[in-house]
Amino acid sequence: MKIAVVGTGYVGLVTGTCFAETGNQVTCVDIDKSKVEKLSNGQITIYEPGLEKIFLRNLKEDRLHFTTNLAEGVKDTTIIFLALPTPPGEDGSADLKYILGVADDLGKILTDYKVIVDKSTVPVGTADKVQAAIAKNFKGEFAVVSNPEFLREGVAVDDFMKPDRVVVGTSDDRAKKIMTDLYAPFVRSGNPVIFMDEKSAELTKYAANSFLAVKISFMNEIARLCERLGADVDMVRKGIGSDERIGKRFLFPGIGYGGSCFPKDVQALVKSSSEVSYDFEILNAVMKVNEEQKLFLMPKINAYFNNDLKGKRFALWGLAFKPNTDDIREAPALYMIDALTEAGATVHAYDPEAMPNVKQLVGDKIDFAESQYDALENADALIIATEWSEFRTPEFEKITSMLKNKVVFDGRNVYDRTQMKELGFFYESVGREAVK
Ligand code: UDX
Repeated sequence: MKIAVVGTGYVGLVTGTCFAETGNQVTCVDIDKSKVEKLSNGQITIYEPGLEKIFLRNLKEDRLHFTTNLAEGVKDTTIIFLALPTPPGEDGSADLKYILGVADDLGKILTDYKVIVDKSTVPVGTADKVQAAIAKNFKGEFAVVSNPEFLREGVAVDDFMKPDRVVVGTSDDRAKKIMTDLYAPFVRSGNPVIFMDEKSAELTKYAANSFLAVKISFMNEIARLCERLGADVDMVRKGIGSDERIGKRFLFPGIGYGGSCFPKDVQALVKSSSEVSYDFEILNAVMKVNEEQKLFLMPKINAYFNNDLKGKRFALWGLAFKPNTDDIREAPALYMIDALTEAGATVHAYDPEAMPNVKQLVGDKIDFAESQYDALENADALIIATEWSEFRTPEFEKITSMLKNKVVFDGRNVYDRTQMKELGFFYESVGREAVK
């Protein structure tokens, strides 16, 4: 099949590359000239494990192309994916200017039947708006389909190639057949392509992400309660997670969720709800809990240092909002950096991938380390904000010898409390009794 993907951001590039991988001819369109040039020359523009290899292979096989010209990109295609940004506006609602702008352009370009697919996370009713924007200028037949992505950063290629499910919202039979054929190679294992109306598909995306945010925030509140009651959140997590109705995943307490999806989508669903006079009470609470949770370690740090962080130096392991990504959007580590530096402390940070992004954002506000151990030099304590694998089983002797005090504040519960006790650490984590 011949496919166009408009927008070569995170979702667009993964989508385009993975569709090329199953033998389709894919042209990715972007208005950013330098990006298109780089991509055409085999230079990948995002960090995503496993993507570069298949990107280069499909580029070489001539199945993957890049252009800045929309008309050229969509020529002779059957399907056009819209993978454009929907940044939150000032009131929290998703800004549709990029999507509707391209829809408008498409209306002037199209000459024959096409399936236009919304891949971006868009508010309920967007498919209708895209339909109207195209129909203003194009009087022929076409279908607008909602096909939300459920990709997790860091495992996006796997999520795309082997999805738990594919959600397709359309009322057009021809589009239904085309989408079925397109996704057939991805659902061979028997996972479903779930067809529904456009609005339900649009809402499914928000409902999925919001539900996961609820799960995390619920556990973060259970963790707070555990500390007050003397219970251990790890035990409670295992205890409830083995009930299949609850499930083991997404029950890990920590210093809050971040990233490009959860914060934005929860906020947007609250906003959409209010537009139809509905107050989504649970999600309001989730937003509040998560804001507080990002600074969950601060009272513990303050208590240890008698509310005087002036002149103290902290080693900070982890800056990305989660492991295996360089993405720092809404990363809890950034909130920690602000709180620590405002209190007069200095921060020496290390992250395997995200340091360049943080440097660009905060400049000289903090120091960046060459390695995780380098960050410990002369530090009064170690703080863990992201659970990268290399932080899970470190050389504890090195930590002990390099830190000024044997003190660890762990925002992701990566260490075993008994082991930390044996090693003689002062160790605070989330929802578990402190080791003193
Ligand atoms: C998420 C969704 O999982 C994905 O389906 C959607 O398409 C985009 O948003 P992503 O943002 O890449 O993906 O990250 P994810 O792995 O889901 O983690 C989100 C956040 O929740 C991270 O900050 C993570 O640290 C946090 N989290 C996750 C927890 O705090 N506890 C958990 O148990 C799981």
